[in-house]
Amino acid sequence: MNARIASVGAHVPARRMHNNELAQIVDTSDEWIYSHTGIHYRHLAAEDEAASDLAVPAARQAMERAGVGPEEIDLVLVATSTPDYVGLPSTACVVQDKLGIPAAGAMDVMAACTGFIYGLETARTYVTAGAARNVLLVGTEVYSKIVNWEDRRTCVLFGDGAGAVVVQPAADDAPSRILPALLGSRGSGADSLYRSHGGTRNQYVPGQTPEADLKLKMDGRRVYNFAVSTVVETIRRLLERNDLEFDAVDWVVPHQANERIIAAAAKRAGWDRERFYVNIAEYANTSAASIPIALNEMFEGGHLSPGRLLVTVGFGSGLTYGGNLLYW
Ligand code: ACO
Repeated sequence: MNARIASVGAHVPARRMHNNELAQIVDTSDEWIYSHTGIHYRHLAAEDEAASDLAVPAARQAMERAGVGPEEIDLVLVATSTPDYVGLPSTACVVQDKLGIPAAGAMDVMAACTGFIYGLETARTYVTAGAARNVLLVGTEVYSKIVNWEDRRTCVLFGDGAGAVVVQPAADDAPSRILPALLGSRGSGADSLYRSHGGTRNQYVPGQTPEADLKLKMDGRRVYNFAVSTVVETIRRLLERNDLEFDAVDWVVPHQANERIIAAAAKRAGWDRERFYVNIAEYANTSAASIPIALNEMFEGGHLSPGRLLVTVGFGSGLTYGGNLLYW
């Protein structure tokens, strides 16, 4: 049995912030941010909006488009590194309840910005094993609540949003199917992108733990170098495994972290940059939500028709990396 993406949906918060507005908070400029990253805007969650609040409208849209009701969902997967609660309960359980899904397995997938890719592979394996018929997968993030708004090297890069897909069985002769993914990790790079304190390694000590240690910290150069080589290698290995040439690919849907990373990877491999779908100018880096938000935009823009060959590719904290290969 094969699995396919039956539908997609997305939701971003209403509040939209331009680089010029950020320049009033930290020492930066529209020129620096755009020229180094390709970002103009990001959408920011309201004070009372958490990851599950963004996930629910995205999931509803995907479920409506698939014609699947709450009682038909067998498994809820939420890819997030900005969960509603620290550690427990999972955001997937919160989403399951809010959607009125009566009885389904629910769990979070934590692979940071590679979370949607890991989640899609988890959904595919459940469906192809016959263990689930309708898997709801949501990538949802509110990085605005974990970035250090005094650190210009990180706060300018991120935005909030959610994207969702429903994964279902596909007939063997159907044009749409997801092929096995490539997933990887390099834990030796854990401290290049992390929140050093507040977990069980370095607990939060009131009055002692500096607030900045509870927020996201990043060695941008290290992540950049890892990202460019990983994007190239992941796509190459996925295509090789399936005896495909890059020319056969209709769209690469990369994690939207930095337009320069995407352009550098395409240039290094000699691939047509125009085949890489990029929407970072509007949303910035929405981590595990960036690929499904892009898929939703591509769907609504008429770029996806059954049988189109797509490669997703991503990298992030962990360090994690991976890619999915699928016929839409
Ligand atoms: N505005 C103005 N100046 C800035 C800003 C800013 N927002 N940020 C940094 N600078 C300055 C630095 O202070 C530095 O100045 P100095 O030379 O006087 O010290 C100068 O710009 C260059 O800084 P670099 O860090 O070397 O800039 P670089 O060209 O490497 O770009 C960037 C930084 C955009 C962060 C890049 O390294 C990058 O994209 N890295 C990858 C990050 C990434 O993708 N992270 C997400 C991973 S996904 C996940 O799991 C969350």
